[in-house]
Amino acid sequence: MSKSSAKFKNAKDKRQKVVDAQGWTHVVRGPKLGHAHSRLVTGLDGLSISPLPDTIDLRNILSRYDKIWTSSPACEKLLTFLEEEVIPAAEVAIRKCICLGLGSLSDGRESSRFQFVTLSSILRLLNQESRVDQVIFQDPAFTRSDMEYLETQGHTVVASPAAFDLVDPNTFLFAPHLEHEYYAKAVEKHLPAITIGSDVDALLEGTCIPSDHQVGDFDTRKILQRFRAETKCYPMPKFEQDPWYLFTSLYWRSHPADGS
Ligand SMILES: C[S@@+](CC[C@H](N)C(=O)[O-])C[C@H]1O[C@@H](n2cnc3c(N)ncnc32)[C@H](O)[C@@H]1O
Repeated sequence: MSKSSAKFKNAKDKRQKVVDAQGWTHVVRGPKLGHAHSRLVTGLDGLSISPLPDTIDLRNILSRYDKIWTSSPACEKLLTFLEEEVIPAAEVAIRKCICLGLGSLSDGRESSRFQFVTLSSILRLLNQESRVDQVIFQDPAFTRSDMEYLETQGHTVVASPAAFDLVDPNTFLFAPHLEHEYYAKAVEKHLPAITIGSDVDALLEGTCIPSDHQVGDFDTRKILQRFRAETKCYPMPKFEQDPWYLFTSLYWRSHPADGS
């Protein structure tokens, strides 16, 4: 055997099978499994098996993201604007928060993690004014680790489409980069008191919503036009560490809530 094929065989021998929480099998090269290594167990075929996402310590990971976000000028700017301009103008107590399309917190994508810590910082602020009794999350992409983590934080995770019908005039809707059909569905029946989501003007001016986009009585364009006509808007402040703020705005009702 040549030197290079022996080297290849050694590397191959060091490979291990790792099964994640969704049942996907990943072949990883050993022995450098780092953190997960100590938790590996041996499967029936003698290969190492580990439910990787379940071993992710989201609390620790997110506290690092939280430190970066809360010490940023963007956080300071956003919270000050909310406190001074938006919350007083909303004229209602925010009782409910609905978060749609956050994405998984366990798959390593930074935007979802920064979005989560941004949402948490806003919830802390809202809770100084009035009690946000329910914080509801909906995203089909959530893993079991995500759901367990959110539930340990006292939040509720629901399966789609339950959350769309829960939006009411006392809601803070947090839906960064949610697909426009779902965005429209969330604001179709009630205008939330406060919304953070994709820039509606850009959506309406762009080509991503075809002018004939209508399924039965559901007309995405018309719903978003009405949403925009009834809200004031503030572009999300620039956050140096992650681009998720781009194409995203903060909206709040420009008139008293339904029935108030
Ligand atoms: C474009 S991604 C945005 C992810 C993340 N917020 C970001 O900015 O990177 C849209 C997200 O919407 C989620 N989504 C799809 N259908 C949904 C539904 N019915 N309800 C809530 N979220 C949904 C997807 O799973 C995905 O995580």
